[in-house]
Amino acid sequence: MSTAPTDTRFDVDAVRARFAALRGGAAIFFDTPGGSQVPDEVRNAVTDALRDAAGNLGGTFPTSRRIAGIVEDAHDAAARFLGCDPDETLFGQNMTSLNFTLSRAFARAGLREGDEVVVMGSDHDASVSPWIEAAHDAGAVVRTVAVDERTFALDYDDLAAQIGERTRVVAFSIASNSAGNVVDAARVARLAHAVGALSWIDATHYAAHLPLDVRAIDADVLVCSPYKFCGPHLGLAYGRRSVLAAWRPYKVRPAPADPIGRRFETGTMPYEQLAGFTAAVAYWEAVDAPGAGHAHTRALGERFLAGLPAGVTLIGPPTSEDRVPTFLLRIDGHDAAETSEQLVRRGFNVTASEHFYCLGLRELIGGKAVRVGIFHYNTAAEVDALLAALRELAADV
Ligand SMILES: Cc1ncc(COP(=O)(O)O)c(C=O)c1O
Repeated sequence: MSTAPTDTRFDVDAVRARFAALRGGAAIFFDTPGGSQVPDEVRNAVTDALRDAAGNLGGTFPTSRRIAGIVEDAHDAAARFLGCDPDETLFGQNMTSLNFTLSRAFARAGLREGDEVVVMGSDHDASVSPWIEAAHDAGAVVRTVAVDERTFALDYDDLAAQIGERTRVVAFSIASNSAGNVVDAARVARLAHAVGALSWIDATHYAAHLPLDVRAIDADVLVCSPYKFCGPHLGLAYGRRSVLAAWRPYKVRPAPADPIGRRFETGTMPYEQLAGFTAAVAYWEAVDAPGAGHAHTRALGERFLAGLPAGVTLIGPPTSEDRVPTFLLRIDGHDAAETSEQLVRRGFNVTASEHFYCLGLRELIGGKAVRVGIFHYNTAAEVDALLAALRELAADV
């Protein structure tokens, strides 16, 4: 399949050559919001770690020392990726587990009866349910911010109205894994900080699309999942040092309390995945500088929007402004699950859902929709092939 260039600084063919899954050409991957493909260097780092560093920390023998090196490298890589210090990073099973862990550690000191947590109605439930549960335990209140019914854009006026003197946390996703909306994280953080609340960010979807800088957006806590951006199945979190220091961790006593982020990690870590994570960050540093991969993806998103055939309805933000190239769509008069199956039969990896775990969107979406997630390893030719398939399906009434 030939690949028309979308950004001359970004060599998508060279990037694709790094992925065994893409070299095979068996499928066209538009399902990155569910999980990305992994470059060979990440897979090799995982298998090398299993060969050279199986065991545990704490020994003076070479295998154990290698594991200690893997751990240090992973926190250094996390700090570069997030724009913070290594001791402010921690790893866990996935974003959801880390969010439950950290929200509990916060809540036992920082959430009292009558306190409030503000969440966004359209967000992935991993950004909502930890607060419903924490509020349930503490007798606190969860307030939900509205989104625009057509574009799903966050209603900043409603956000400002929901934040008050009892607000302790404002929890939000920077980018939506369903309709692709992007939120102005620094603006939300300013509103939270004005009342002394924490800015608690889910960057799981955003991290796959745009560079992160936790200092620039003034995040107090930020959680994401490396398997969405070419890493292994793993969760990653940032906590501002002064914020983490105020919490009592749920930890076993012999486990070290320092560096500070690691006191919130429990038990033996998946060292081979940490090695894979470090390789994933190195991959981004190699292919993405200076943001060319992201520019390529944005250009593909614009190409997709411009080429949408008649009979295909886009759900959510209508333009490429304030969004990442993750699209919900439906073919008029067609069942979305059936459309998804038809596309899968034609070799496109896509899925259909009523909510994609964003429960607040379920009523707004009004039934299943097909999700198309464009990523930096996609090509203009793949986008054109998808548009042609949609045109063919839309014509078949
Ligand atoms: C925006 C967003 N937040 C949170 C999550 C939960 O991530 P995990 O599966 O790593 O727990 C996802 C997963 O799809 C997501 O897309």
